[in-house]
Amino acid sequence: MKKLSIVDIANELKVSKTTVSFILNGRAKEKRIGEDLVERVTKYVEEVGYKPNSLAKSLRTGKSNTIGLMVEDISNPFFASIARLIEDRAYKNGYKIIYCSTDNDTQKTKELINMFRDRHVDGYIIAPPEGIEDDVEQLLKDGLPVVMFDRHLPKVNTDYVEIDNLFSTYNATRHLIQQGYKNIAFVTFASSQTQMMARVQGYKDALKESRFTPVVKEIVFNQDEEMIIKPMTAFFKKHKDLDAVVFGTNHVGTCGLKIFSTLGVKVPDDMAVISFDDYDVFKLYSPPVTAIAQPVDEIADNVITVLLKKLNTKGVSTASHSIILKTNLQIRGSSSGLKD
Ligand code: RIB
Repeated sequence: MKKLSIVDIANELKVSKTTVSFILNGRAKEKRIGEDLVERVTKYVEEVGYKPNSLAKSLRTGKSNTIGLMVEDISNPFFASIARLIEDRAYKNGYKIIYCSTDNDTQKTKELINMFRDRHVDGYIIAPPEGIEDDVEQLLKDGLPVVMFDRHLPKVNTDYVEIDNLFSTYNATRHLIQQGYKNIAFVTFASSQTQMMARVQGYKDALKESRFTPVVKEIVFNQDEEMIIKPMTAFFKKHKDLDAVVFGTNHVGTCGLKIFSTLGVKVPDDMAVISFDDYDVFKLYSPPVTAIAQPVDEIADNVITVLLKKLNTKGVSTASHSIILKTNLQIRGSSSGLKD
């Protein structure tokens, strides 16, 4: 059976298409349309089971009441926990979320942005890979709000929500130094993203203060975990003198712990450990792992609040600003002091 359109309804009831559209879009009162006509139209629409075509509606109104949420990897517990919180808040404010993984791949991200544009997505929340500056600039030029989080694109002037990455690793490394550790490594993914650069810098700043030599290992990210574990294992076998390590993300940290159990490296006796990102695995590990916990609730809350504000003040150019949140160093057994 052919899907009914607003035109069919208007013809059937012998009223104008515009009147039907105003009634179906909740604007009858604003347009001073009489109660009896509203009653006639809504009754008929229920009888025939008319479902507004959301794409047609978004073409007409330019709004789809959807938000595009683009993160590195939708299955990563860090991004998944933030996405869930954003979705709840968005839904309560009349928006649905379209959620996808960029894999930090510039070309894939460009294609995803095009897909979102075709669907008239109203606003964007992006943890951006490098190389999409022009695409984001175009969204902003077309009046589409973009809020970045977890990292930002320095050349693009838009709102972003990050944590104090540099202080977080500086503080964690200082903690290890205060515990008496002297040969401390930093193992992370090779990346020029703002948050990853800041984390390495924080570690180096802490060592510099104590005149210790930095030992940094940057692993090329790979979907195949074996391709992460192999070079990391070789690194730890080569640097037998290490007594502590800071891992730059949750993923690097879990790979590191797997390697230590394979190599029979005892934590913290042979190697003290701190990892970025706190989550159950680190709490359940023996000994529990000291972690730099990100405020995921606060990140999600700030991201969606900034975007909703921009959506509700559309057309009014609001100044862009950055929100930098604090992390918590959750000190546990994996970084307890050196045995005397
Ligand atoms: O894999 C998630 C990690 O990388 C988190 O540290 C997050 O900040 C991202 O940068």
